[in-house]
This record gives sequence, C-alpha cells and structure tokens, in this order.
Amino acid sequence: MKKIVIFASGTGSNALKIIEHFKKKSVGKVVLVVSNKKNAAVLDKAQQHNIPTLIINRTSFYKSESFLEVLKEYEADLLVLAGFLWLVPAYLVKAYPQKIVNIHPALLPKFGGKGMYGMNVHRAVYEAKETQTGITIHYVNEQYDEGAIIFQATCALTPEDLPEDISSKIRVLEHGNFPRIIEEIVKNYKLE
Ligand code: GAR
Repeated sequence: MKKIVIFASGTGSNALKIIEHFKKKSVGKVVLVVSNKKNAAVLDKAQQHNIPTLIINRTSFYKSESFLEVLKEYEADLLVLAGFLWLVPAYLVKAYPQKIVNIHPALLPKFGGKGMYGMNVHRAVYEAKETQTGITIHYVNEQYDEGAIIFQATCALTPEDLPEDISSKIRVLEHGNFPRIIEEIVKNYKLE
C-alpha cells in the first residue's frame, strides 16, 4: 500500500476526490494533507475523513530541510499537489524524484508558469479565445509547470463560455481523471 501525501492551498475539491477514491482501494492511501493556509477548506475535508493535516510555514519550508523528516515519519511514497500554490523547493524535488505529481487546469505548456493558477488560468484561456482547453497532470521539477507530462485531457469551448464556465468544465475533467491517474502511477510505482 503506497502512502500518498496531498498538498493543497484552497478548497480541496480534488483532494477530496482523491481521498474518497483511495478509501475504496487497497493500492494506496492518503496519509497526510499539507497546506500553506491555516484556513484552507481542504483541511476540514481531510479532518472529516480522519486524515492528519499539517500547516507549513514559508520560512521553515524553504530555508530548512526539516520537512523531509515529516515525510519520512509518514513514510510518504508519492506527493500529490492538488491546487498547491507554492513552488516546490529543490531539496524536495531531489528527495522525491518522479514522485511528485501536480495537476494544472490548462493544456501545458500553454497557460502555465508563476501566477497561473485557478481562475487566473481560466481568465487567460477566455481572453485568448481558445476553442479548447483541458487539464495536465505532470511530474514536478524545480520550475513551475515544467516537469514531464503524464496525462492530458481536453474539452471544447464555445464563444459563450465565460471563465466560470471554463472552470466548471475543467473541474469535471479533473475530478474524473486525477484520482484514477494517481492510482495508475501508484500501481506502476517502481520500488527502489
Ligand atoms: C484546480 O483546478 C487545480 O488544477 C488548480 O487549482 C485548482 C484547485 O481546486 N491548480 C493550479 O492552478 C496549479 N497551478 P481544488 O482546491 O478545488 O482542488
């Protein structure tokens, strides 16, 4: 059973889908939810499922490597970013090579990079008058949204789709795909 740690900064609708998915599976389990925001709604969702939560502090997360001790304590196998807005520090990428996965609400390499999260992405897609958009699930490296792509799914857009409509279409794609792609990753996991 692989141990999954979720990182999330906001609502946590994806985190919840992942938690629920793995409650029904024996290949993996969410063991910890980490957030940089102490009032993030994702924390309540985790607590309702009796999953431990941890709030991280910018200084200790970036200026020391003490966070690695926490991950060791939870025996983390896979780190999943589900709406986590901080850049992953280099020491973490190095300690978990190809073991950190992010979801991005657009078709990377389009609409990625610093500041491109949530509604900012959907507004940019809207302003660019894109006729399609989608989601990207990818490994995390030291740059925002640049790691190797694992999976993409697309949806069509009409000229009537406002940023809120784009957001709804993306949610459907995310919730329908992210948990099952994580399951695939966990199943194909190479033991060292
Ligand atoms: C998701 O749409 C995710 O793709 C996005 O944040 C949202 C979190 O929603 N991530 C990024 O934009 C990362 N650059 P949620 O809290 O409801 O899961």
